[in-house]
This record gives sequence, C-alpha cells and structure tokens, in this order.
Amino acid sequence: MKKIKMSINALDKKSHINPEIYGHFSEHLGRCIYNGIYVGKDSSIPNTNGIRNDVIEAFKEIKMPVLRWPGGCFADEYHWKDGIGENETRKKMVNTNWGGVTEDNSFGTHEFMQLCELVGCEPYIAGNLGSGSIQELAEWVEYMTLDGGTPMSELRKKNGREKPWKLKYLGIGNESWGCGGTMRPEYYVDEYRRYQSFCKNFSGNTLFKVACGPSADDYSWTECLMKNLNKFTANAIALHYYTLPTGSWDKKGSATDFSNEEYYDTVSRTLFMDELITRHVEIMNRYNPEKDIGLIVDEWGCWYDVEPGTNPGFLYQQNTMRDAIIAALNLNIFNNHSDRVVMANIAQAVNVLQSVILTDGEKLLKTPTFHVFDLYKTHQGGELVYSWNENEKNSNGTPAISQSVSVKDGKMTVTIANTSLESDYEIECDLYGFDAKSVSARILTSEVHSYNDFDNIDNVSVKPYNAELLGGKLIVKLPECSVLSVVIE
Ligand code: AHR
Repeated sequence: MKKIKMSINALDKKSHINPEIYGHFSEHLGRCIYNGIYVGKDSSIPNTNGIRNDVIEAFKEIKMPVLRWPGGCFADEYHWKDGIGENETRKKMVNTNWGGVTEDNSFGTHEFMQLCELVGCEPYIAGNLGSGSIQELAEWVEYMTLDGGTPMSELRKKNGREKPWKLKYLGIGNESWGCGGTMRPEYYVDEYRRYQSFCKNFSGNTLFKVACGPSADDYSWTECLMKNLNKFTANAIALHYYTLPTGSWDKKGSATDFSNEEYYDTVSRTLFMDELITRHVEIMNRYNPEKDIGLIVDEWGCWYDVEPGTNPGFLYQQNTMRDAIIAALNLNIFNNHSDRVVMANIAQAVNVLQSVILTDGEKLLKTPTFHVFDLYKTHQGGELVYSWNENEKNSNGTPAISQSVSVKDGKMTVTIANTSLESDYEIECDLYGFDAKSVSARILTSEVHSYNDFDNIDNVSVKPYNAELLGGKLIVKLPECSVLSVVIE
C-alpha cells in the first residue's frame, strides 16, 4: 500500500463554509417535480399536501440547506400566476424545453414554499427575465414577501397563506446567454440592473440577488458583469458547469457502462471546476476586492446520455460510485474556495441528471451521490482550515487524493476522496493546533460501476470505518475508489 503524507493546521482558518454550498436544484423537468417530489394530495403514496413524505425525510437527512426552483431553462418560460389558486383554474402550458409535455401548474409557489418549510431549507426562486416582465417579477416578490394591504399580498391571503414567507435568494434570469434569451452580456447586464431595481425588500425581508453568471469558461461574460455590477445591484453571480465525461454534448456516454479511461477523463473534467472557479474569481477580485459579491455554482454535476428506453427530454440517468467520486471532488473544491463560493446547487435533486434520489412509483432510493452529501454534511457552517497532501498521480495524470477540512464547535471534519482505481493509500496526517482525543469515521466505497437500483437499494451504502489516532497523527487506509469522512474531537 502506498503512503501519502497529509498535513492540517487548525489554527490557519481560511473562510466560512456556507451551508448553502450543499444546495440542490429542482426543475419542472421530467420526473423531478411530478412523481419525484410531488404526487398530489390524492396519491396513495404517503404525502403532506401532495409532497412525498419519503422525499421530505431524505432531504432532511442530508440537511438540505437551500433548494432552487422552478428552473433551469423552465424558469424563463414560467409565469407564476399560472401556478396559484384552485387547481382546476390553473392554466396549463407546454414545457417546450423538456419533452414538450403538458405542465398543469399543480405545483406552484405555495407548494414549493411549503416543501422548503417542511424540509427546513431556504427557498431560492429563479425569476423569469427571458420571457417575463419586470412587473411580473416585482409582483411575485410582493406576493411572497409583503405583509398585507396590497393587491398581491391580499391575493396570497385569499389563496390560503396569511403570513408572508421569507425569501432570501432571488435569481434574475437563468442561462441568459442560452435558453434564457441568447443575450449578449452587455444587454443582459443592463436588463438585470433594471429588473433588480424593482425587486424590493418588504416587511423585514431582505433579498439576496443573483445575476446570471457565465457558462463554464466564458470569462468575458464575467468580465462584463463585474464591470457593470456592484454590491448594491447584485449579491452574487451564478456559474453553470456540468461534467460531460466525453466532453461532447452529442455523445455524452453511458452513466453505468464506461471504461477506466472514460472514468479518469470524468475525474479530469471535474477537476476543471477548480480552474474555472480560480479564473472567474481572479476577475471578480479585480472588480470587487472586498469580496462582497459571491460566486454561486448554480448548476453542477455529471450529465450522461439518458437511461436507455427513457424519454430523452427527461434527462433521467443512473448514478454510480463514479458519481460519488465526482460529488466528493466538487464539494472539496467548493469548500476550498469558500472565501468566494457562497452557494452551489447540484443538478438535480430527484430523477434528473446527478440526483441524490431516484423514485419509481412509491419506491425511493438514495444514490451514491446522496451518501456523499450525507458524509460531508458536518462541513456545513464550519470554518475551512489549511490542509495539504503530497499526492500521487492516476494513470491520466490527475491527482489521486482530494481533501478538505473544517472545524466547527470543537469538532474537525476531514473529507478525503481516493479517485484511483488501482491503488489503496495509507494517509498519515499531522494535526497542528488541534487537541485530538477521539475519532470516528464513515466510508463509501465499492467497485466504480456499482449503483443502487430498486431491487437492491443498499448495494452502495455508507459503512462505519476504523480511523486511528497515533501519537497525535491521524492514520487512515483508503481503498481505491472511496470517499471517507472523519470527525475528530
Ligand atoms: O439542468 C438541466 C438544464 O441545464 C437547466 O434547465 C439549464 O439551466 C441547464 O442548461
């Protein structure tokens, strides 16, 4: 077994890890909302006002901090007034982005806000800048957050919600460079500035306004945005980057059937996230050295060809140990950039792309990606501290080991991924500035193609793990293809 040295300095505090870095995204796409999250009050599947109880419990288990809705591309064709009031009167529409199916709007603002209340997470509304109007968005904010005495707040009361909701996160336009309007950054930023002016803080509610940021490595988009925004107009800009194993949108590759080479390419394309964040942040630092405009990684995750036999517009894919490794790498990267990255949302929560949950009728399973969110949840709200490892390289040159470390309430969380499919590693880790007395650990490891299906929902699951403290050092033996979470007190 190869040995690797690691070092942690608990006295060298770097930045706060916002819980929202562990955020999620839900879109009216395929079976994410309907069947996945929402089954309607009359369903035989146990539910609370139509929202699946098993989904609520699973979201709570990983301490879901924030949920983005209603899209995605869907957000820029969504008209919120179609999704309020009696179900029978709600207007139907065609979901032009995702399979051309009929959207009956039975899941709307009230249902989404109730979901967030039941889960205990922050709602994050993606507003329609592409095909909506300023008045429409301004009224939505008023409907949700203003106490009373205006047409919108009275309409909310008439629809059964007396008290306003708290709404912090408001996105204004989604992928405005693409499905959200194919805009030039110069045009978008002026539109954004106009829209955000009319999204007001009501009744003690304070909005955190998010501008549409770049697609992957479009640095000129970030440059234009940062030149034209300041902390009075935007609290954050939102980057979208998906890992495509082959790098091609035409043939993305199978979620379950892949070679070792394709696996390592997937790792490499995921690690590009680190370069992306570094370079976008360099631009942000020039215009906003105070760092009061955050970077949100609004959509991230692996995007494969859909499962054979499923609707191509529904983006349903399986989720293997490869996805667990990809999730672990991304979350370590976000933690390590938490001085600027204030939120990140994996796409998507249920039945779409790199989901944490898959459903089939009344059945529900937790994917390997779910288990990584579970392993990492003690990072939420912690302070990132300095960590280093001497590392080894995989056959394609990518680093084998990735880690991040945080401290909260006297407990240290160390998360480590071994991306290698060929080597186990023994890690000997120096712990500076931390009086380690006890250690507990949990591990997720399995053959890289393994996944959970409805016949075997626990094929890949978290197991207790024996980590050691020897002479003040942490000693762990990491099997190939594994994700480990260690909590030291
Ligand atoms: O997550 C699927 C789609 O990917 C979203 O709707 C869009 O924002 C992105 O292109």
